Amino acid sequence: MIDDVAHARTDGLTAIAAARTMDELRAVEADLLGKRGPLARAKAGLGSLPAEQRRDAGRALNEAMAAVQAAADERRAVLVAEVRRAQLASERLDLTEAHRKPSRGHAHLVTQATERLEDTFIGLGFQIAEGPEVETDWYAFGALNMPSSHPARSMWDTLFVDHGPPGSTVLRPHTSPVQIRVMETTPPPIYVVMPGRVFRRDTADATHMPVFHQIEGLVVDRGITFPDLAGTIEAFTKAFFGAEFTSRLRPSYFPFTEPSAEFDIRRPDGTWLELGGCGMVHPNVLTAGGLDPEEWSGFAFGFGIDRMAKERHGVADLREMFSNDIRFIEQF
Ligand code: FA5
Repeated sequence: MIDDVAHARTDGLTAIAAARTMDELRAVEADLLGKRGPLARAKAGLGSLPAEQRRDAGRALNEAMAAVQAAADERRAVLVAEVRRAQLASERLDLTEAHRKPSRGHAHLVTQATERLEDTFIGLGFQIAEGPEVETDWYAFGALNMPSSHPARSMWDTLFVDHGPPGSTVLRPHTSPVQIRVMETTPPPIYVVMPGRVFRRDTADATHMPVFHQIEGLVVDRGITFPDLAGTIEAFTKAFFGAEFTSRLRPSYFPFTEPSAEFDIRRPDGTWLELGGCGMVHPNVLTAGGLDPEEWSGFAFGFGIDRMAKERHGVADLREMFSNDIRFIEQF
């Protein structure tokens, strides 16, 4: 009898260890511990044993049942943990999309044009400067020879900011205020270009945006004359657009330059395109920048970068460049 119990115990522990699923384990348990199992049968036979053997056989039986039950509980815990681990793995979301290589983008058309413009002017001996996008009335107009109520202020469809006294703070409508900031901080000779974002109350159309970009140029030195301006603009046109392009200056008016001109380029097909304004820096502007107009003279210009990018890439409508349509942007 004791031998039967020992065999049943050994077989039971082996079967429990071999169970690979919860269903298998349940079946093994039912076989071993169920009413018709070997241990139950042994228990039923206890009564027919002689009294002196009954005690030892009973103890062996109890120990075997406890050992089998403990092994089954232990195996169950292991199988439950395995099931849980498999479930977690199958439900895990892979948010990294590691299998997809990130595609490499490129700079926006306007950024590309700005960088090319900077490179071109650095090649001509200029330095780069920048100024704030939110300006005071003084830098945006006053220092540029447009005192309050000067009618020329209405040439810029200015967006005013609700800060300080009414009309005292503006989103800069052009990059010309940076001329003054450079004069205040840089002793001449000055050869700088100043790219940046500007803002106007303009309705968007094929050639206008309410937010666009300009590059300002400022040269201040001794004995600078109008031919220096014309020569620089021509050299820039050839360097940026190519040898088949030429430039011309048309008389114009800006309060901060005297004389003033519009700068046009002639395309290889013979048509002309206006790109910006320029002129000799007005003596009042040199004075506002802290320089003596008797000692120093200079020229300045301001070009629209967005229109240059549009021209260079043959884009029909300026609004396309800001639509964020990936099919359009990917072409460049
Ligand atoms: C000016 O802003 C002057 N500050 C330029 C200047 C600088 C003159 C230094 C003399 C000396 P204007 O308003 O014309 O000028 O603008 C210059 C250029 O900016 C235009 O020729 C055009 O190319 C571009 N531009 C103007 N308005 C817009 C707009 N709404 N959208 C896109 N480009 C524009």
